[in-house]
Amino acid sequence: MIHDVVLIPGDGIGPEITDAVVRILDAAGAPLRYHHALAGMGAFQATGNPLPEETIQLIDQYRLVLKGPLETPVGGGFRSINVSLRQRYNLYSNIRPAKTLAGIATPFRDVDLVLFRENTQGLYIGHEKWIDVDHNHAESTAVVTREASERIITAAFEFARKSGRKTVHLVHKANILKLTSGLFLQIGREVAERYRDIAFRDIIVDNMAMQMVIKPSQFDVVVTTNLFGDILSDLASGLVGGLGLTGSANIGYYCAMFEAVHGSAPDIAGQNKANPTALLFSALMLLDHIGDTERASRIRSATEAVLADPNLRTGDLGGKGSTSSFAEAVIGRL
Ligand code: NAI
Ligand code: MG
Repeated sequence: MIHDVVLIPGDGIGPEITDAVVRILDAAGAPLRYHHALAGMGAFQATGNPLPEETIQLIDQYRLVLKGPLETPVGGGFRSINVSLRQRYNLYSNIRPAKTLAGIATPFRDVDLVLFRENTQGLYIGHEKWIDVDHNHAESTAVVTREASERIITAAFEFARKSGRKTVHLVHKANILKLTSGLFLQIGREVAERYRDIAFRDIIVDNMAMQMVIKPSQFDVVVTTNLFGDILSDLASGLVGGLGLTGSANIGYYCAMFEAVHGSAPDIAGQNKANPTALLFSALMLLDHIGDTERASRIRSATEAVLADPNLRTGDLGGKGSTSSFAEAVIGRL
């Protein structure tokens, strides 16, 4: 069966890394048919709209998206299209795996965790206001609901069960934020009752940050609210070699979007220098999502072999390879 994918190359290095990824997927025979779509700064410059109607129609139709980085103007202009897409399609579950890679030197050799970040609520939603006319007092509102907490925590437990993982850690600050974080923890305990085969632990976020850099191997599946997840998922990426190697999925009820977590890297755009691994790993999560897991692990093995060779990997990892030579090397090892 062929799967239709909306392909958004995006801004900066987006088109180069997208091209490299599609070439690797094609060489591996991935059963995907691509529908190119515009979003971000390039879309804004070409059409006056950073999220054109045609792009929305394609996503509505196909519900499966592979997306490069999108440039967001700083301090004005249009709001983040990444955030708009997550909200429009209710992509409530942000999934970020962090696993030690064979060829990448890091302080730990045994990291293998998957972080589930609630993607629609918490403090991260930016419901903020000035309290005084002089703008010397600002306040922000965090939102946590039973429905949104239950669906993300259930997603984490379901994933743990399906993938044969043993433990779910729920990260919170319920000792201080007794209502918002407390509700999330309470719902975690309730959901855990339905998954007696999976161990459930809760941990306070500051301790979590420390534990992750002391002994990350103790973590398996992790679930947390939006802002904690934003921070801890980058920390987890750092444990295995950084954002250039990290894929991610944004999953909703009827739509799924896969994207690298890094940005558009304007400093190296158009120079054939960018590392396509993060977008490639995101595409492998897409293959896993459509059930093509065997092909995903074959491509992953080939990529790890290339990453292990300093002559082949890209400059951000201290290597001599270019975006296109890296892709060729992966294709050669498939
Ligand atoms: P960035 O991730 O684009 O760049 C940070 C540093 O990492 C730069 O030195 C860059 O060259 C390097 N880098 C990033 N990805 C790389 C790759 N694949 N290979 C090699 N080196 C890589 O972050 P920055 O500079 O803060 O943001 C630039 C733009 O990207 C902004 O407009 C920002 O809004 C946007 N952005 C978009 C995201 C998305 O679409 N998901 C996520 C983060 C930022
Ligand atoms: Mg982030």
